[in-house]
Amino acid sequence: MTSKLTRILVQTSTVPNAIYLQSRTKSDHLKTNERTKSMSSYYNQSAIDSAAKKASVRLVPTTMLYAGKSTDGLHILRSAQYLHKELPVRIAHRVVAFRNLPFIVGCNPTIISVHEMYIKAFQMLTEFPEIKNFEDEARYCRLLRKLLDDYRDVVTMLAEGFKESSKHIEDKAMIKTFIDRTLTSRLGIRMLAEHHLAIHDDKPGFKGIICVNFQPRKLIERRADFARGLCEYKYGKAPNVKVNGHLNATFPYIAQPIDYILGELLKNGMRATVESHLDNPNSLPDIVVTIANNDVDFIIRISDRGGGIPHEHSSKVFEYHFTTSGSVVDERVDGGLFGEVMNPSSKGPAAGPMHGFGFGLPASKAYAEYLGGKLSIESMQGIGTDVYLRLSHIDGKCESFRI
Ligand SMILES: Nc1ncnc2c1ncn2[C@@H]1O[C@H](COP(=O)(O)OP(=O)(O)OP(=O)(O)O)[C@@H](O)[C@H]1O
Ligand SMILES: [Mg+2]
Repeated sequence: MTSKLTRILVQTSTVPNAIYLQSRTKSDHLKTNERTKSMSSYYNQSAIDSAAKKASVRLVPTTMLYAGKSTDGLHILRSAQYLHKELPVRIAHRVVAFRNLPFIVGCNPTIISVHEMYIKAFQMLTEFPEIKNFEDEARYCRLLRKLLDDYRDVVTMLAEGFKESSKHIEDKAMIKTFIDRTLTSRLGIRMLAEHHLAIHDDKPGFKGIICVNFQPRKLIERRADFARGLCEYKYGKAPNVKVNGHLNATFPYIAQPIDYILGELLKNGMRATVESHLDNPNSLPDIVVTIANNDVDFIIRISDRGGGIPHEHSSKVFEYHFTTSGSVVDERVDGGLFGEVMNPSSKGPAAGPMHGFGFGLPASKAYAEYLGGKLSIESMQGIGTDVYLRLSHIDGKCESFRI
Protein backbone atom coordinates (compact mmCIF):
# COMPACT_ATOMS: atom_id res chain seq x y z
CA MET A 1 0.00 0.00 0.00
CA THR A 2 1.33 3.42 -0.90
CA SER A 3 2.10 5.34 2.26
CA LYS A 4 0.76 8.78 3.06
CA LEU A 5 3.99 10.60 2.21
CA THR A 6 4.41 8.80 -1.11
CA ARG A 7 0.81 9.70 -1.98
CA ILE A 8 1.39 13.33 -1.14
CA LEU A 9 4.63 13.44 -3.15
CA VAL A 10 2.76 12.00 -6.10
CA GLN A 11 -0.19 14.34 -5.69
CA THR A 12 1.99 17.42 -5.49
CA SER A 13 3.88 16.50 -8.67
CA THR A 14 2.64 17.16 -12.15
CA VAL A 15 2.78 13.76 -13.89
CA PRO A 16 0.27 10.91 -13.47
CA ASN A 17 0.90 8.32 -10.77
CA ALA A 18 1.25 5.54 -13.29
CA ILE A 19 4.49 7.01 -14.63
CA TYR A 20 5.74 7.56 -11.11
CA LEU A 21 5.09 3.97 -10.21
CA GLN A 22 6.48 2.56 -13.44
CA SER A 23 9.68 4.54 -13.19
CA ARG A 24 10.72 2.71 -10.06
CA THR A 25 11.85 -0.81 -9.45
CA LYS A 26 10.18 -3.16 -7.01
CA SER A 27 13.10 -2.97 -4.64
CA ASP A 28 13.02 0.84 -4.81
CA HIS A 29 9.40 0.62 -3.82
CA LEU A 30 10.02 -1.69 -0.96
CA LYS A 31 12.80 0.55 0.28
CA THR A 32 10.68 3.67 -0.07
CA ASN A 33 7.68 2.04 1.52
CA GLU A 34 9.80 0.98 4.47
CA ARG A 35 11.14 4.49 4.73
CA THR A 36 7.88 6.27 4.13
CA LYS A 37 6.09 4.15 6.71
CA SER A 38 8.20 5.90 9.28
CA MET A 39 8.17 9.13 7.29
CA SER A 40 4.43 9.50 6.97
CA SER A 41 4.10 10.41 10.60
CA TYR A 42 6.65 13.16 10.06
CA TYR A 43 4.93 14.85 7.20
CA ASN A 44 2.92 17.94 7.90
CA GLN A 45 2.14 19.78 4.72
CA SER A 46 0.25 22.73 6.19
CA ALA A 47 3.00 23.48 8.75
CA ILE A 48 5.56 23.41 5.94
CA ASP A 49 3.41 25.67 3.76
CA SER A 50 2.97 28.25 6.47
CA ALA A 51 6.69 28.22 7.42
CA ALA A 52 7.59 28.55 3.73
CA LYS A 53 5.58 31.78 3.53
CA LYS A 54 7.87 33.43 6.08
CA ALA A 55 10.99 35.27 4.97
CA SER A 56 14.34 34.01 6.13
CA VAL A 57 16.22 36.25 8.58
CA ARG A 58 19.82 36.23 7.39
CA LEU A 59 22.67 37.35 9.59
CA VAL A 60 25.60 39.55 8.63
CA PRO A 61 28.88 37.97 9.82
CA THR A 62 29.77 41.27 11.50
CA THR A 63 26.81 40.73 13.82
CA MET A 64 28.24 37.31 14.68
CA LEU A 65 31.74 38.71 15.01
CA TYR A 66 30.88 41.59 17.28
CA ALA A 67 27.88 40.04 19.05
CA GLY A 68 28.05 40.77 22.75
CA LYS A 69 28.90 37.95 25.07
CA SER A 70 27.02 37.99 28.34
CA THR A 71 28.61 36.38 31.37
CA ASP A 72 25.32 34.67 32.26
CA GLY A 73 25.31 32.92 28.86
CA LEU A 74 22.15 34.67 27.68
CA HIS A 75 23.75 35.25 24.27
CA ILE A 76 23.80 31.46 23.84
CA LEU A 77 20.13 31.19 24.73
CA ARG A 78 19.23 34.00 22.31
CA SER A 79 21.24 32.34 19.55
CA ALA A 80 19.37 29.04 20.09
CA GLN A 81 16.02 30.85 20.09
CA TYR A 82 16.91 32.50 16.77
CA LEU A 83 17.83 29.12 15.23
CA HIS A 84 14.70 27.52 16.62
CA LYS A 85 12.62 30.02 14.62
CA GLU A 86 14.86 30.35 11.60
CA LEU A 87 15.90 26.81 10.62
CA PRO A 88 12.36 25.47 9.97
CA VAL A 89 11.69 28.46 7.69
CA ARG A 90 14.80 27.78 5.62
CA ILE A 91 14.08 24.06 5.43
CA ALA A 92 10.44 24.69 4.47
CA HIS A 93 11.63 26.85 1.54
CA ARG A 94 13.69 23.91 0.32
CA VAL A 95 10.84 21.41 0.73
CA VAL A 96 8.65 23.62 -1.44
CA ALA A 97 11.43 23.76 -4.04
CA PHE A 98 11.66 19.94 -4.03
CA ARG A 99 7.91 19.75 -4.56
CA ASN A 100 8.16 22.04 -7.56
CA LEU A 101 10.81 19.97 -9.34
CA PRO A 102 9.79 18.47 -12.66
CA PHE A 103 8.13 15.14 -12.01
CA ILE A 104 10.79 13.01 -13.69
CA VAL A 105 13.41 14.49 -11.36
CA GLY A 106 11.23 14.69 -8.26
CA CYS A 107 10.46 10.98 -8.39
CA ASN A 108 14.04 9.83 -8.74
CA PRO A 109 14.55 7.50 -5.73
CA THR A 110 17.66 9.37 -4.53
CA ILE A 111 15.98 12.77 -4.86
CA ILE A 112 12.92 11.42 -3.03
CA SER A 113 15.21 10.31 -0.21
CA VAL A 114 16.71 13.79 0.10
CA HIS A 115 13.25 15.38 -0.11
CA GLU A 116 12.15 13.11 2.73
CA MET A 117 15.23 13.95 4.76
CA TYR A 118 14.33 17.64 4.55
CA ILE A 119 10.76 16.92 5.62
CA LYS A 120 12.04 14.87 8.53
CA ALA A 121 14.46 17.64 9.58
CA PHE A 122 11.59 20.15 9.41
CA GLN A 123 9.49 17.95 11.64
CA MET A 124 12.25 17.36 14.19
CA LEU A 125 13.06 21.06 14.40
CA THR A 126 9.46 22.22 14.66
CA GLU A 127 8.53 19.55 17.20
CA PHE A 128 11.26 20.81 19.47
CA PRO A 129 9.52 22.87 22.20
CA GLU A 130 10.27 26.52 22.86
CA ILE A 131 13.78 27.03 24.27
CA LYS A 132 13.33 28.61 27.70
CA ASN A 133 16.36 27.58 29.69
CA PHE A 134 19.85 26.07 29.44
CA GLU A 135 18.59 22.48 29.69
CA ASP A 136 16.38 23.06 26.64
CA GLU A 137 19.33 24.65 24.91
CA ALA A 138 21.61 21.68 25.66
CA ARG A 139 19.02 19.30 24.20
CA TYR A 140 18.69 21.55 21.16
CA CYS A 141 22.46 21.37 20.64
CA ARG A 142 22.24 17.58 20.65
CA LEU A 143 19.56 17.77 17.98
CA LEU A 144 21.69 20.14 15.87
CA ARG A 145 24.70 17.83 16.14
CA LYS A 146 22.61 14.87 15.11
CA LEU A 147 21.20 16.70 12.11
CA LEU A 148 24.65 17.91 11.04
CA ASP A 149 25.89 14.33 11.17
CA ASP A 150 22.88 12.65 9.60
CA TYR A 151 22.74 15.09 6.68
CA ARG A 152 26.38 15.00 5.66
CA ASP A 153 25.82 12.99 2.49
CA VAL A 154 23.02 15.13 1.12
CA VAL A 155 25.16 16.85 -1.53
CA THR A 156 26.59 13.60 -2.84
CA MET A 157 23.05 12.19 -2.96
CA LEU A 158 21.83 15.25 -4.89
CA ALA A 159 24.74 14.94 -7.32
CA GLU A 160 23.87 11.30 -7.94
CA GLY A 161 20.11 11.85 -8.13
CA PHE A 162 20.37 14.71 -10.60
CA LYS A 163 22.96 12.92 -12.67
CA GLU A 164 20.51 10.15 -13.39
CA SER A 165 17.34 12.19 -13.78
CA SER A 166 18.20 15.60 -15.19
CA LYS A 167 19.32 14.09 -18.50
CA HIS A 168 15.63 14.07 -19.40
CA ILE A 169 15.12 17.75 -18.61
CA GLU A 170 15.56 20.45 -21.23
CA ASP A 171 15.36 23.39 -18.86
CA LYS A 172 18.89 23.07 -17.48
CA ALA A 173 18.79 26.59 -16.02
CA MET A 174 15.97 25.60 -13.70
CA ILE A 175 17.88 22.59 -12.43
CA LYS A 176 20.99 24.72 -11.97
CA THR A 177 19.04 27.27 -9.93
CA PHE A 178 17.61 24.49 -7.78
CA ILE A 179 21.01 22.91 -7.11
CA ASP A 180 22.66 26.31 -6.49
CA ARG A 181 19.96 27.29 -3.98
CA THR A 182 19.91 23.91 -2.25
CA LEU A 183 23.69 23.91 -1.84
CA THR A 184 23.92 27.49 -0.64
CA SER A 185 20.93 27.19 1.67
CA ARG A 186 22.59 24.11 3.14
CA LEU A 187 25.85 26.01 3.51
CA GLY A 188 24.00 28.80 5.36
CA ILE A 189 22.14 26.37 7.64
CA ARG A 190 25.31 24.46 8.47
CA MET A 191 27.27 27.63 9.14
CA LEU A 192 24.57 28.88 11.52
CA ALA A 193 24.30 25.54 13.33
CA GLU A 194 28.08 25.13 13.60
CA HIS A 195 28.38 28.72 14.78
CA HIS A 196 25.88 28.11 17.55
CA LEU A 197 27.67 24.95 18.69
CA ALA A 198 31.04 26.74 18.50
CA ILE A 199 30.05 29.71 20.68
CA HIS A 200 29.90 27.25 23.59
CA ASP A 201 33.53 26.29 23.15
CA ASP A 202 34.99 29.76 23.44
CA LYS A 203 38.02 28.57 21.49
CA PRO A 204 40.85 31.15 21.65
CA GLY A 205 41.10 33.15 18.41
CA PHE A 206 37.54 32.26 17.40
CA LYS A 207 34.13 33.89 17.67
CA GLY A 208 31.98 30.89 16.97
CA ILE A 209 32.98 29.76 13.48
CA ILE A 210 34.72 33.02 12.67
CA CYS A 211 38.49 32.74 12.88
CA VAL A 212 39.54 36.15 14.15
CA ASN A 213 43.07 35.88 12.74
CA PHE A 214 42.41 33.88 9.62
CA GLN A 215 45.55 33.33 7.53
CA PRO A 216 44.81 32.29 3.95
CA ARG A 217 48.36 31.05 3.51
CA LYS A 218 48.00 28.41 6.24
CA LEU A 219 44.72 27.17 4.85
CA ILE A 220 46.14 26.99 1.32
CA GLU A 221 49.14 25.00 2.54
CA ARG A 222 46.95 22.59 4.45
CA ARG A 223 44.59 22.07 1.51
CA ALA A 224 47.52 21.69 -0.89
CA ASP A 225 48.95 18.86 1.26
CA PHE A 226 45.59 17.15 1.32
CA ALA A 227 45.05 17.51 -2.45
CA ARG A 228 48.61 16.28 -3.12
CA GLY A 229 47.84 13.20 -1.03
CA LEU A 230 44.79 12.44 -3.18
CA CYS A 231 46.67 13.13 -6.39
CA GLU A 232 49.61 10.91 -5.43
CA TYR A 233 47.22 8.17 -4.45
CA LYS A 234 45.50 8.34 -7.82
CA TYR A 235 48.39 9.09 -10.18
CA GLY A 236 51.52 8.20 -8.22
CA LYS A 237 52.75 11.82 -8.66
CA ALA A 238 51.56 15.27 -7.68
CA PRO A 239 52.78 18.78 -8.54
CA ASN A 240 54.20 21.00 -5.81
CA VAL A 241 52.21 24.00 -4.70
CA LYS A 242 54.02 27.35 -4.26
CA VAL A 243 52.28 30.16 -2.42
CA ASN A 244 53.25 33.79 -3.01
CA GLY A 245 51.83 37.33 -2.73
CA HIS A 246 50.59 38.61 0.63
CA LEU A 247 51.84 35.68 2.65
CA ASN A 248 51.29 37.40 5.98
CA ALA A 249 47.72 38.52 5.27
CA THR A 250 45.63 38.03 8.41
CA PHE A 251 41.99 39.04 8.90
CA PRO A 252 38.75 37.63 10.33
CA TYR A 253 36.99 35.10 8.13
CA ILE A 254 35.10 31.80 8.12
CA ALA A 255 37.55 29.18 6.94
CA GLN A 256 35.26 26.26 6.09
CA PRO A 257 33.73 27.38 2.79
CA ILE A 258 37.09 28.63 1.46
CA ASP A 259 38.59 25.34 2.52
CA TYR A 260 36.10 23.47 0.38
CA ILE A 261 36.54 25.76 -2.64
CA LEU A 262 40.34 25.64 -2.46
CA GLY A 263 40.27 21.86 -2.24
CA GLU A 264 38.19 21.63 -5.41
CA LEU A 265 40.33 24.12 -7.33
CA LEU A 266 43.61 22.51 -6.29
CA LYS A 267 42.37 19.03 -7.24
CA ASN A 268 41.33 20.32 -10.66
CA GLY A 269 44.70 22.02 -11.19
CA MET A 270 46.60 18.92 -10.07
CA ARG A 271 44.61 16.59 -12.27
CA ALA A 272 45.14 18.85 -15.31
CA THR A 273 48.88 19.14 -14.54
CA VAL A 274 49.42 15.41 -14.22
CA GLU A 275 47.23 14.44 -17.16
CA SER A 276 48.93 16.95 -19.47
CA HIS A 277 52.41 15.67 -18.50
CA LEU A 278 51.90 11.94 -18.78
CA ASP A 279 54.99 11.68 -21.00
CA ASN A 280 57.10 13.52 -18.43
CA PRO A 281 55.66 12.74 -15.01
CA ASN A 282 58.88 13.43 -13.14
CA SER A 283 59.01 17.11 -13.96
CA LEU A 284 55.57 18.41 -13.19
CA PRO A 285 55.26 22.20 -13.23
CA ASP A 286 54.28 23.78 -9.89
CA ILE A 287 50.84 25.07 -9.14
CA VAL A 288 51.23 28.66 -8.00
CA VAL A 289 48.76 30.19 -5.57
CA THR A 290 48.87 33.96 -5.16
CA ILE A 291 47.20 35.83 -2.31
CA ALA A 292 46.27 39.51 -2.70
CA ASN A 293 44.77 41.34 0.25
CA ASN A 294 43.41 44.89 0.41
CA ASP A 295 40.92 46.90 2.44
CA VAL A 296 37.92 45.84 0.38
CA ASP A 297 38.51 42.20 -0.46
CA PHE A 298 41.02 39.41 -0.86
CA ILE A 299 41.77 37.42 -3.96
CA ILE A 300 43.27 33.97 -4.29
CA ARG A 301 44.55 32.98 -7.73
CA ILE A 302 45.38 29.38 -8.52
CA SER A 303 47.56 29.04 -11.61
CA ASP A 304 48.38 25.73 -13.16
CA ARG A 305 50.27 24.70 -16.24
CA GLY A 306 47.93 21.87 -17.03
CA GLY A 307 47.31 22.76 -20.67
CA GLY A 308 44.19 24.91 -20.13
CA ILE A 309 40.54 24.22 -20.73
CA PRO A 310 39.80 23.48 -24.40
CA HIS A 311 37.70 26.17 -26.13
CA GLU A 312 34.84 23.79 -26.71
CA HIS A 313 34.59 23.11 -22.96
CA SER A 314 35.07 26.59 -21.58
CA SER A 315 31.38 27.52 -21.66
CA LYS A 316 30.40 24.26 -19.96
CA VAL A 317 32.74 23.94 -17.00
CA PHE A 318 30.34 25.76 -14.67
CA GLU A 319 27.48 23.42 -15.58
CA TYR A 320 26.60 20.80 -13.00
CA HIS A 321 27.61 17.31 -14.15
CA PHE A 322 29.95 18.55 -16.86
CA THR A 323 33.10 16.52 -16.46
CA THR A 324 35.84 15.18 -18.70
CA SER A 325 36.47 12.42 -16.20
CA GLY A 326 35.46 9.12 -17.74
CA SER A 327 35.54 7.19 -14.50
CA VAL A 328 32.48 5.90 -12.73
CA VAL A 329 32.28 7.53 -9.34
CA ASP A 330 31.52 5.20 -6.49
CA GLU A 331 32.85 7.10 -3.56
CA ARG A 332 35.06 10.14 -3.41
CA VAL A 333 38.24 9.99 -1.42
CA ASP A 334 37.56 13.24 0.36
CA GLY A 335 34.42 12.10 2.12
CA GLY A 336 32.07 13.26 -0.61
CA LEU A 337 31.19 16.69 -1.85
CA PHE A 338 31.24 19.06 1.03
CA GLY A 339 31.74 16.15 3.38
CA GLU A 340 34.76 17.92 4.79
CA VAL A 341 33.16 21.29 5.17
CA MET A 342 31.90 21.96 8.68
CA ASN A 343 33.31 18.68 9.84
CA PRO A 344 36.96 18.99 10.72
CA SER A 345 36.99 15.53 12.25
CA SER A 346 36.44 13.69 8.96
CA LYS A 347 39.08 11.29 7.77
CA GLY A 348 41.96 11.95 5.42
CA PRO A 349 42.64 10.37 2.04
CA ALA A 350 41.44 6.85 1.46
CA ALA A 351 40.75 4.79 -1.65
CA GLY A 352 38.71 6.17 -4.56
CA PRO A 353 38.79 8.70 -7.37
CA MET A 354 39.67 12.39 -6.94
CA HIS A 355 37.25 13.80 -9.47
CA GLY A 356 34.23 12.87 -11.47
CA PHE A 357 30.91 14.43 -10.43
CA GLY A 358 31.29 17.62 -12.42
CA PHE A 359 30.26 19.46 -9.26
CA GLY A 360 33.53 21.01 -8.08
CA LEU A 361 33.48 24.18 -10.19
CA PRO A 362 29.75 24.99 -10.26
CA ALA A 363 29.38 24.30 -6.52
CA SER A 364 32.46 26.43 -5.73
CA LYS A 365 31.08 29.27 -7.84
CA ALA A 366 27.71 29.05 -6.09
CA TYR A 367 29.40 29.14 -2.66
CA ALA A 368 31.64 32.06 -3.67
CA GLU A 369 28.62 34.03 -4.86
CA TYR A 370 26.67 33.17 -1.70
CA LEU A 371 29.59 34.64 0.22
CA GLY A 372 29.21 37.83 -1.83
CA GLY A 373 32.23 37.01 -3.96
CA LYS A 374 33.16 35.70 -7.38
CA LEU A 375 34.85 32.74 -8.96
CA SER A 376 36.19 33.25 -12.46
CA ILE A 377 38.44 31.35 -14.82
CA GLU A 378 40.96 32.53 -17.39
CA SER A 379 42.32 29.71 -19.45
CA MET A 380 45.35 29.98 -21.74
CA GLN A 381 44.70 27.08 -24.05
CA GLY A 382 47.92 25.18 -24.63
CA ILE A 383 49.52 26.46 -21.41
CA GLY A 384 47.30 26.36 -18.33
CA THR A 385 44.50 27.83 -16.28
CA ASP A 386 44.14 30.66 -13.77
CA VAL A 387 41.20 30.53 -11.38
CA TYR A 388 40.40 33.64 -9.34
CA LEU A 389 38.49 33.45 -6.09
CA ARG A 390 37.51 36.93 -4.91
CA LEU A 391 35.83 37.44 -1.53
CA SER A 392 34.90 40.54 0.48
CA HIS A 393 36.10 41.10 4.01
CA ILE A 394 33.65 40.61 6.84
CA ASP A 395 35.15 43.07 9.32
CA GLY A 396 32.32 45.55 8.87
CA LYS A 397 34.23 48.17 6.84
CA CYS A 398 32.41 47.23 3.65
CA GLU A 399 29.07 45.68 2.88
CA SER A 400 29.19 41.96 3.42
CA PHE A 401 27.09 38.91 2.57
CA ARG A 402 24.39 37.49 4.79
CA ILE A 403 24.38 33.95 6.09
N1 LIG B 1 42.45 23.68 -13.96
C1 LIG B 1 41.84 23.03 -14.94
N2 LIG B 1 42.51 22.71 -16.09
C2 LIG B 1 41.90 22.06 -17.10
N3 LIG B 1 40.61 21.66 -17.08
C3 LIG B 1 39.90 21.94 -15.97
C4 LIG B 1 40.46 22.64 -14.85
N4 LIG B 1 39.50 22.78 -13.92
C5 LIG B 1 38.39 22.19 -14.41
N5 LIG B 1 38.62 21.69 -15.64
C6 LIG B 1 37.64 20.99 -16.51
O1 LIG B 1 36.34 21.31 -16.04
C7 LIG B 1 35.63 20.10 -15.77
C8 LIG B 1 34.66 20.37 -14.66
O2 LIG B 1 35.38 20.60 -13.43
P1 LIG B 1 34.66 20.24 -12.05
O3 LIG B 1 35.63 20.51 -10.97
O4 LIG B 1 33.37 20.95 -12.00
O5 LIG B 1 34.34 18.70 -12.18
P2 LIG B 1 35.32 17.43 -12.07
O6 LIG B 1 36.66 17.85 -11.56
O7 LIG B 1 35.29 16.74 -13.38
O8 LIG B 1 34.54 16.56 -10.99
P3 LIG B 1 34.37 16.91 -9.41
O9 LIG B 1 35.07 18.21 -9.17
O10 LIG B 1 32.91 17.01 -9.16
O11 LIG B 1 34.96 15.76 -8.72
C9 LIG B 1 36.70 19.06 -15.47
O12 LIG B 1 36.25 17.74 -15.70
C10 LIG B 1 37.80 19.47 -16.44
O13 LIG B 1 37.54 18.99 -17.73
MG1 LIG C 1 36.79 19.04 -9.87
